[in-house]
Amino acid sequence: MCGIVGIIGEKGVAPDIIDALRRLEYRGYDSAGIATIENGHLERRRAEGKLRNLESRLLSEPLQGRTGIGHTRWATHGRPIERNAHPHMNGRVSVVHNGIIENFRELKAALEPKGYVFESDTDTEAIVHVITEELDQGATLEQAVKNALSRLHGAFALAIIFAGHDELMFAARQGSPLAIGHGTGEMYLGSDAIALAPFTNAITYLEDGDWAVLRRDGMQIYDRAGARVERPLVKSGASSLLVDKGNHRHFMAKEIYEQPEVISDTLANYIDMTTGTVNFPDLGIDLAKVPWVTLSACGTAYYAGLVAKYWIERYACVPVEIDIASEMRYREPPLGSGGISVFVSQSGETADTLATLRHAKAEGERVVSIVNVRTSTIARESDALLPTLAGPEIGVASTKAFTCQLAVLACLAIALGKARGVITAEAERDLVQALIEVPRHMSTILGNEKQFKAIAHDLSKARDVLYLGRGTSYPLALEGALKLKEISYIHAEGYAAGELKHGPIALIDENVPVIVVAPQDDLFDKTVSNLQEVAARGGQVILVSDAAPEKVGCKLAAHIALPVVSSFTNPLICAVPVQLLAYHTAVVMGTDVDQPRNLAKSVTVE
Ligand code: M6R
Repeated sequence: MCGIVGIIGEKGVAPDIIDALRRLEYRGYDSAGIATIENGHLERRRAEGKLRNLESRLLSEPLQGRTGIGHTRWATHGRPIERNAHPHMNGRVSVVHNGIIENFRELKAALEPKGYVFESDTDTEAIVHVITEELDQGATLEQAVKNALSRLHGAFALAIIFAGHDELMFAARQGSPLAIGHGTGEMYLGSDAIALAPFTNAITYLEDGDWAVLRRDGMQIYDRAGARVERPLVKSGASSLLVDKGNHRHFMAKEIYEQPEVISDTLANYIDMTTGTVNFPDLGIDLAKVPWVTLSACGTAYYAGLVAKYWIERYACVPVEIDIASEMRYREPPLGSGGISVFVSQSGETADTLATLRHAKAEGERVVSIVNVRTSTIARESDALLPTLAGPEIGVASTKAFTCQLAVLACLAIALGKARGVITAEAERDLVQALIEVPRHMSTILGNEKQFKAIAHDLSKARDVLYLGRGTSYPLALEGALKLKEISYIHAEGYAAGELKHGPIALIDENVPVIVVAPQDDLFDKTVSNLQEVAARGGQVILVSDAAPEKVGCKLAAHIALPVVSSFTNPLICAVPVQLLAYHTAVVMGTDVDQPRNLAKSVTVE
């Protein structure tokens, strides 16, 4: 996952940039680079592989500039070779970028005929040329950056410098984190506070849509609309440097907000962004011949698997057997005969999941794990590993690990469908495009936090809460209920909306909030019928949907508006509102959000 550093210093900044990049190595990278302003000109050095390669390059060809940007690249668009390493630049502007520019193909197609020459295979280079085009049209530096940002779709954190403008740097954040460090007579930029720890612990975190102008003696931050905004200055304590909460009150909040970035990182591992196709690792088994898939996991990871059952059966036409690991391990179902068993786990240490994995292995199944901690036991004991790139998840309530698990499972469904000839090349491109757009849509929901706080006040007064959903929204209803009960301690249940009449409807009265997860998919009308049944009995309906509230034909207690997305990616999008509802309810109730009572992050006993 890419790391960004920028320094406006009092002396040559290259050694300090390298130092800061080293502190970002934990994110993973495959090439690195640095650009500085040398006597008014932009100069850069880049190298494939580890930072030491860049350092030796700098030994033979040193950079002396006092303003510079640096980058560790984790390849998304284009192979990990020097030509694709950041910074990207022309004679006028140099850029480092973390994230994905979704519309780079369109931008490139428009810029090339106008004479802007692309030298790399990256999406990032489009940013260089968009800014340059703005300058060519007479914009000032500030205008050029602001206008260029409005032309970029996707998730990004950027650091930008210009030839002839020593002691000036621009920063921008949309979905990917970026921290500004305040020094004495020096200013810094970093993907996180860890990178800047040797220089300063006075940090300002940019918020989504923010862009900033940094000079040696200070900075100004602007929001998306160009209005000047203030963001708090926080002290990042040395002891919390390894993983800190950033600007957030809880790790859970930080992890919810990290989702656009970590989903991009995870998708980039399984998708060729240049061709818009799934680029799946070899699982050591012919996916075209897999007769069935068995899935097993616990808790939230199990719900991710349940979504995948719908996806794999629908998009790959492969039957899926799924069970919670604590049941499957003792049920000991007969497996084997060429199937694959997929185990999903954030920690990779969950005792029941591990026991089930060992059973599947003993039965001769091909064992594949989707795990966040790559060094974990489940990862090590699997025949093949499909990592999620969520980064460390500290909050006990799983959030970003869940959506990253969904991202990997979505790619698995496409890979299976493709191998079996069920998904056409065109359908694959559409599904992949829908996935690529997920981080942007998540950012939109995260930008509208206020509505969740208001609803949370009402939810916090409830004794029981019901969640309903159909199809892939059913596991989301289960996940919403689990999230709420584990951190707010309010009793909550998730049901398939069609099950309502078979029992749970007896619980409905005017004191029971019913959260209905109902994106406008092919089951929307059916779910609306169930919603009306709840409303007719006085239930307080909170609708989570991209449909206008008028469409449901009854009174709602609240409506959480979702962006309109492909029905394929609805589960990823719906995860964010159910997480935010639980989080804000817990905050209102004053519970220990990150370490709720009785719960452990890693359940290593059965
Ligand atoms: O580490 P794992 O993903 O295997 O953990 C599985 C469950 O223990 C976990 O998802 C748990 O349900 C979370 N607390 C849910 O937020």
